Amino acid sequence: MLVTGGAGFIGSNFVHHWCHAYPEDRVVVLDALTYAGNRQNLATLEDKDHFRFVQGDICDGALIKKLLQEEEINTVAHFAAESHVDRSILGPGAFIQTNVVGSFTLLDAFRQHWNDHSSPPDYRFLHVSTDEVYGSLSADDPAFTETTPYAPNSPYSASKAGSDHLARAYYHTYNVPTIITNCSNNYGPYHYPEKLIPLMCINILLGKPLPVYGDGQNVRDWLYVLDHCRALDTVIHQGKPGETYNIGGNNEVKNIDLVKMLCRIMDELAPHLPVKPSQELITFVKDRPGHDRRYAIDATKIQTELGWAPLVTVEEGLRQTVGWFLTHRSWWEPLLSEEYQSYYRQVYAS
Ligand code: NAD
Ligand code: DAU
Repeated sequence: MLVTGGAGFIGSNFVHHWCHAYPEDRVVVLDALTYAGNRQNLATLEDKDHFRFVQGDICDGALIKKLLQEEEINTVAHFAAESHVDRSILGPGAFIQTNVVGSFTLLDAFRQHWNDHSSPPDYRFLHVSTDEVYGSLSADDPAFTETTPYAPNSPYSASKAGSDHLARAYYHTYNVPTIITNCSNNYGPYHYPEKLIPLMCINILLGKPLPVYGDGQNVRDWLYVLDHCRALDTVIHQGKPGETYNIGGNNEVKNIDLVKMLCRIMDELAPHLPVKPSQELITFVKDRPGHDRRYAIDATKIQTELGWAPLVTVEEGLRQTVGWFLTHRSWWEPLLSEEYQSYYRQVYAS
């Protein structure tokens, strides 16, 4: 298996899941190690015979062809992406390059590799995507299904939509066995500090303001990352080429309520906090431009056709995540680098 973006948040959780579940499978990670990639996330696997890490870019077609050939890859799990909406607003170019051009390069190399091997039926290309391609829901709208029309609103979601269309077209035009998954917001270990949940956990621990965008009433559908990894495992083994599967936690929460839950759990679990109750740190800040109001996933298809369902409730998942950030200070402290501080100033300067 080739896992692109395997040093990022979801990719590294997936690699740990896969190596634990299928210790005989060879797993090759291809990751450019951008600001979001961290080899530490895979440190415990580095000495395993069945594991290989390659630093490289998914836009490098020659490198991908070489890896597909020499490692005899039959499955690609494609996670590599620029993934943060706020960064896509500050600088969309990198999102087009990696998410559109990089995904195209990978798909096309895989098409040739699959053709070279006489189109074997067991090959798979899993394209990991997002619910954001469907746009924004209002309070009364039904949740996104696999047939909801695409309506991406940010440069990030537009670039992911572009890559989804390419993955779909490669199945319909060339029969390449692609499968697309569109998942809701993940959270859990190894989550990069720029995203809502890790940012709030870290700021509570540091006694810094907790910046809630706009009125805090935006809704996200939260899924514990290991439930997502189990869903992807199920799709790789049982999903049908050419199909799309929505993945979600059935856990819609308003941002402000989520932040208050994190404060409550952190107040309970942390032995010492600079400010307690930590809710006192909540600060409403200027809204994200074009901020989608609500996402919600209807996961009926993957549940009924493939038998997957989430196992972790938001309360359990948040407790585990808060516990992880409490005990992994040595993981997140180095990430609060000058580059991160500079990004932070740009987004949060009002
Ligand atoms: P992340 O930003 O934490 O990790 C992305 C990884 O991709 C990093 O390791 C980075 O170094 C690597 N990468 C970036 N550009 C690359 C390039 N050109 N070549 C090779 N590697 C490159 O992202 P994540 O949150 O783990 O998301 C993984 C995938 O899942 C993305 O495709 C994202 O769109 C999708 N997704 C994320 C969520 C979520 O809530 N985080 C939800 C649904 C779908
Ligand atoms: O829905 C899936 C998507 O979820 C993935 O495709 C993206 O890769 C992932 O980043 C995530 O996108 P969001 O924009 O929903 O996640 P983020 O953690 O950035 O923000 C979650 C919500 O919290 C959103 O409504 C914006 C708000 N927010 C975020 C930050 C960072 C705040 O109010 N304050 C903040 O400081």
